[in-house]
Amino acid sequence: MTAPRRSRLLGTGHYLPARVLSNSDLERMVDTSDAWIVERTGIRERRIAAEGECSSDMAAEAARRALESAGLKPADIDLLLVGTISADHPMPSCAALVQKKLGMRNVLCVDLSAACAGWLYGLEIADQYVRTGKARRVLVVGVELLSRVLDWTDRVTCVLFGDGAGAAVLGPQEEGETGALLGTHCFLDGGLAGALCIPAGGSARPASHATVDAREHYVKMQGQEIFKSAVKNLASSCKVALEEAKLTAAEVDWVVPHQANLRILQGVSDRVGVPMARFYINLDRVGNTSSASVPIALDEASRAGLLKPGQVVLCCALGAGIAWGSALFRWG
Ligand code: ACO
Repeated sequence: MTAPRRSRLLGTGHYLPARVLSNSDLERMVDTSDAWIVERTGIRERRIAAEGECSSDMAAEAARRALESAGLKPADIDLLLVGTISADHPMPSCAALVQKKLGMRNVLCVDLSAACAGWLYGLEIADQYVRTGKARRVLVVGVELLSRVLDWTDRVTCVLFGDGAGAAVLGPQEEGETGALLGTHCFLDGGLAGALCIPAGGSARPASHATVDAREHYVKMQGQEIFKSAVKNLASSCKVALEEAKLTAAEVDWVVPHQANLRILQGVSDRVGVPMARFYINLDRVGNTSSASVPIALDEASRAGLLKPGQVVLCCALGAGIAWGSALFRWG
């Protein structure tokens, strides 16, 4: 059997928990205001997982919806990749629990730790498996339950994030099919690893009373460093994707980006040359869901009928690491 030339998306799905946490709710929790959050980020509300709800529950639900839209069953999947930094446990992997909850076959299932770029990293790996013929149907999930690792007394971080999961199934492009993954480009600069991190709870600083008292098990962030890195690197990864595919910014129908901050996306729009009107935005409703961000947005835009066969769709994401990347699709 000759390996397929390209892979393509066979289906997408997402899951958002029911509970809405608005900016005015946050005004009652920390010293912030709806006006500040909207002006600085564009976020108005986010979703928060219910008590007892875990990352693997949300991931499994998003995966079920992606499988349904692809017309496939869990037994059809021969590789599961889960992008997450908020798995149910340090071990086993979130992928192990998702496999169990879906009733999947005994195949390679693994977590990828690339924070907000986790789903894009998964997509790049999935693409290689499909193109070489090593896997035929790959399920790529991004899930994040950051509300449990946020410091709800730190107004700099707690206003930014939300919980959720997104998923996609990748398979081979068959003869005559329009849809294709045209390319992925993933990068990482470990020099900025400290700019966004959870300092304690790992092997460098194991959990202790002292680390808990110092609130070191929560997300810590140097917001302006991340902001500058995001504008620069998201834009450059979009440009590299277009250059390699020999496409221009004018030929991009949709940018479906990581939903961190409207001002970051405005900077990316200016640098790449695709107007904001062609950016799909849902951060006002869901906030930053990290690795789930791009697949949630992609599924929403797809189900809303915005992404038409033959259109050029550009995705990009950046997060802790600093890890970032882009993916370019011909929709279909
Ligand atoms: N409410 C009210 N005031 C606040 C809040 C808040 N939630 N957070 C910070 N402030 C205050 C600061 O304390 C500061 O006060 P001061 O002037 O008295 O010291 C003032 O607002 C300005 O703070 P800055 O940090 O300069 O504000 P900035 O314009 O940089 O916006 C923000 C902060 C929104 C965090 C921005 O830096 C940002 O978005 N960075 C990117 C971070 C990000 O998106 N991280 C997500 C993970 S990575 C990713 O997904 C790309």
